[in-house]
Amino acid sequence: MTESLTVRDNRTGQEYDVPITDGTIRAADLGKIKTDDETPGLAVYDPGFVNTASCRSSVTYIDGDKGILEYRGYPIEQLAEHSSFLEVAYLLIHGHLPSEEEHDAWVHEITYHTFVHENVKTFMQGFRYDAHPMGMLMASTGALSTFYPESRDISDEQNRHMQMVRMIAKMPTLGAWAFRHAQGKPYVYPDNDLSYTGNFLSMLFKMSESKFEADPRLVKALDTLFILHADHEQNCSTNAVRSVGSSQVDPYSAVAAGVGALYGPLHGGANEAVLRMLKRIGSKENIPAFIEGVKAGNERLMGFGHRVYKNFDPRATIIKKACDDVFEVTGVNPLLEIAKELEKIALEDEYFVKRKLYPNVDFYSGLIYEAFQFPPEMFTVLFAIGRTPGWLAQWSELVTDKEQKIARPKQIYTGDRTLQFTPASQRWA
Ligand code: CMC
Repeated sequence: MTESLTVRDNRTGQEYDVPITDGTIRAADLGKIKTDDETPGLAVYDPGFVNTASCRSSVTYIDGDKGILEYRGYPIEQLAEHSSFLEVAYLLIHGHLPSEEEHDAWVHEITYHTFVHENVKTFMQGFRYDAHPMGMLMASTGALSTFYPESRDISDEQNRHMQMVRMIAKMPTLGAWAFRHAQGKPYVYPDNDLSYTGNFLSMLFKMSESKFEADPRLVKALDTLFILHADHEQNCSTNAVRSVGSSQVDPYSAVAAGVGALYGPLHGGANEAVLRMLKRIGSKENIPAFIEGVKAGNERLMGFGHRVYKNFDPRATIIKKACDDVFEVTGVNPLLEIAKELEKIALEDEYFVKRKLYPNVDFYSGLIYEAFQFPPEMFTVLFAIGRTPGWLAQWSELVTDKEQKIARPKQIYTGDRTLQFTPASQRWA
C-alpha cells in the first residue's frame, strides 16, 4: 500500500503526491499546491482544530469509540484503582512509573515545596471578598513567575524539573487560599505531615483544631478524582498551555493560560451546570417532562455527550463508584437518586441512543464535590489542581520537541483593503 495521497488541483489540472505519515498529511505540503507563484499555496481551514494534529505526543492516548483513556500506556481504570495522584503525576511527567526510591524522593520534593512566599499571601489578600477562585488561581499562578525569575531558562532540564515540582506542590495551596478568601477565613499553611490530598483538605477546612485529618475515604476519593482529571491530551486548556508555552515563556505564565482556558463554561464548568440542572429538576416525577424538553431542543442534558467519547466516558464509570464511597461518609446526596434515574431513562431513550450520548466525567463529579461542601465556583479549581501535572507533562514535551515552533495559525482575511485614511479633523468636520 502506498502511503501517500494524490491530489488533483482542478484549477490547474496539476497532480501532487502528498506523503501520509501516521494517518496525517503535513499541512505545509498542501502549501506547495498553487495556481501560480504570486498567490499563496493551499491551506486548511479548521476552526476549533476539529481535525488538525498540532503535535506528536506520548503522554495520553484516547480512543473515543472504545471508551479508552490511557496515561503513558496505562489504562485509567488501573491507575484510578491502584495508584495515587502523585505517582500518576510522576508517570505523566517522567514517562515511566517510579521506583520506590524515585517515588519517595518525588513525594518528598513535592511535600517540601507546598509553602508559598508570604508576599503571595499578601497578593491574594488584595482580591475583593467575592473574587471568583478561578480568577484568583489564574492570577496567583501567573504571579509565581515573578517569584522565580530563573524559570525563564527553559533550556535547563534541572531548572524545568524544579518549576514543575513547585507548581504541582503549590497549586493546592493557592486553590485552598482562594477558597478561604471567599469565606473570610484565615489562610491555613500547609501541613507537611499529611499526604498531598490530605494536606489540601486540611488547608481548606481546618479551623481551630491543632491538626486536621480528613476521613481517609474522602482523601482517597478526592485523590482518585485528581487522577481522573490529570490529563486528556489536546483539550482546550492544554492547547492553551502549549500555545503560550511555544513562545518560550516561563511555565508559570503558560500554565496560567491553561487555568484561564479551563475557567470557561464550555470546558471546566459543566459539572457546575449538572448540579444546577439536577436541583432544578427537583424530583424523579419531573424527569419525563424534562427529558421531553431536551428532546424538543429546549436545553441540553448537561453531563451527557462528548466530542471524543461516543460509547462511554471511562472516567464517568469510575466516578460513579467513587460517589458510593464518598456518600458512605457524608450521607447520600438526595440529588443522586435523580441523577441515577435520569441516566437510566436517557440510556434507554432513542434520542440519546441514536446520537451516542452517554454520561461524561461531569455527570457525577459535581455531586461528589457538593458532598465535600465545596461551593460550585470551587469545582473548576479542583479540576485545575488535577490537570496541573498533565499541563506540565505536555509543556515539557513541547519544549523538548525539535519539531515544535511558535504557534501561529493562518487566517482567511475577510476585511477591506487599500482604504485611504482621512484625518479625524476632516472626517468629523
Ligand atoms: N443533550 C441533548 N442533546 C445533545 C447533547 C446533550 N447533552 N449533546 C449533544 N446533543 C445532540 C445535539 O443536539 C446534536 O443533535 P442533532 O444532531 O439532532 O443536532 C447531536 O447530539 C450532536 O451534538 P454536537 O453538539 O454536534 O456534539 P459535539 O461533539 O460538538 O458536542 C458536547 C459535545 C460535550 C459539547 C455536547 O455533547 C454537550 O453540550 N454536552 C453537554 C455539556 C457537557 O456535559 N459538557 C462536558 C463535556 S466533558 C468535560 C471535558 O472533557 O472537558
